[in-house]
Amino acid sequence: MNPAGSAPPAPDAAGEGPLAGPAGDQLLIHNLSEIATPEGSRPLRGAEQRRVRRLARAEVLCRGGRIAWIGETAERLRLWGELPGAARLDGRGGTLVPGFVDPHTHLPWAGSREEEFAARLAGKTYQEIAAEGGGILSTVAATRRASEDELVAGIRGRLDRMLAWGTTTAEAKSGYGLSTDGELKQLRAIRRAAEGHAVELVPTLLAAHEVPAEWRHDRARYVDLVCEEIVPAAAGEGLARFCDVFCEEGVFGVDESRRVLAAGARHGLRPRLHADEFADSGGAELAAELGALSADHLIAVGERGIEALARSGVTAVLLPGTSFFLMKHRYAPARRLIEAGVPVALATDCNPGSSHTESMPMILVLAVFELGLGIEESLSAATLNAACALGLGSEAGSIEVGKRADLVLLACPNLLHLAYHYGINPVAAVVKGGRVAHRAQP
Ligand code: NIG
Ligand code: FE
Repeated sequence: MNPAGSAPPAPDAAGEGPLAGPAGDQLLIHNLSEIATPEGSRPLRGAEQRRVRRLARAEVLCRGGRIAWIGETAERLRLWGELPGAARLDGRGGTLVPGFVDPHTHLPWAGSREEEFAARLAGKTYQEIAAEGGGILSTVAATRRASEDELVAGIRGRLDRMLAWGTTTAEAKSGYGLSTDGELKQLRAIRRAAEGHAVELVPTLLAAHEVPAEWRHDRARYVDLVCEEIVPAAAGEGLARFCDVFCEEGVFGVDESRRVLAAGARHGLRPRLHADEFADSGGAELAAELGALSADHLIAVGERGIEALARSGVTAVLLPGTSFFLMKHRYAPARRLIEAGVPVALATDCNPGSSHTESMPMILVLAVFELGLGIEESLSAATLNAACALGLGSEAGSIEVGKRADLVLLACPNLLHLAYHYGINPVAAVVKGGRVAHRAQP
């Protein structure tokens, strides 16, 4: 039941008995071929990451937004009866998995980078484009020009697509403002876009995403601005939960990144990092030193970085969509990370320059085909480990009594079909907080 050895989530310590409390607001999900879920509230590592619980022909009862019971029909009839007042979701022989958690996205942006994409198709590299003033800085210019309302509309469109592909919780970073007003505008847009939307957003301040053009002559002053003005302003308005830095050769060095993340921590923002994406530049070691919640990308991480992550328990958030979209033919060493005992999570990195997708099922396909993860490892990475990378491991990421009822019904007979039948949207319905938030067109 609980391979990670952690306590089952509250409030039903007995496991799968009925929860106390008033009836009503109930949803019964039935007629499933299987339920597949990791278990626990801590990040799974090593062999644990393969230990997915698979239950044939079970039902799930949600009450008050949480999972109240999991079991077979006969037992449900004995415990709960026919449940005439409950809403029903007919699984039609499909597979139920936890809602996907996407722990690394850059959702609030304006404009498009399709011309750069064409240049990359013609052979230019992402770094060459950035060195010519394109890349992140071209999205910064478009995002600075956009109104907050325009950013909200852009994010909502992306959230609708995320939901349709099974994401129920996501992280969202600023990082295309690179000024106090610009970063706060993005963070306010994240907050407004999430209001009333089924996809829950966890906001991250990424003011140290790049040095803006007006500070290129004095980059130290930009780092000062981030530490002394942008971080306190974002934290003061309660607009961010995490602080992130693009720690990379040619962007922010280890010492600059340490300063920014320490300023974030002083204001209550937990650190996470873009680390070792293009070069082994000490990002993973810094994540370990600071006890960051995650180190993300890691395409170029070396053995020292891997060992530091393993020792400190930092989760590696891998973004295979970025390797794919940048046509790098080089992926993060996922097998080595798992073997070393680093918990591995998966994310889209949804952004207009290096990974233009909202689809976690696409990322799972890349994890299986390009990172060499098994389907069970990929599922743990995209659900429980991803939730833990956002500090939400006791609330989300698995189908267990007491956790939030965030669930995805897949129109396929078992988990393996997520990779076996690729290039289709496998999502038949999405449940968020015990309510059906999305149904695919029949
Ligand atoms: O995670 N690496 C830095 N930031 C993003 C790319 C953002 C962009 O190109 O606009 C990333 O890949
Ligand atoms: Fe990113």
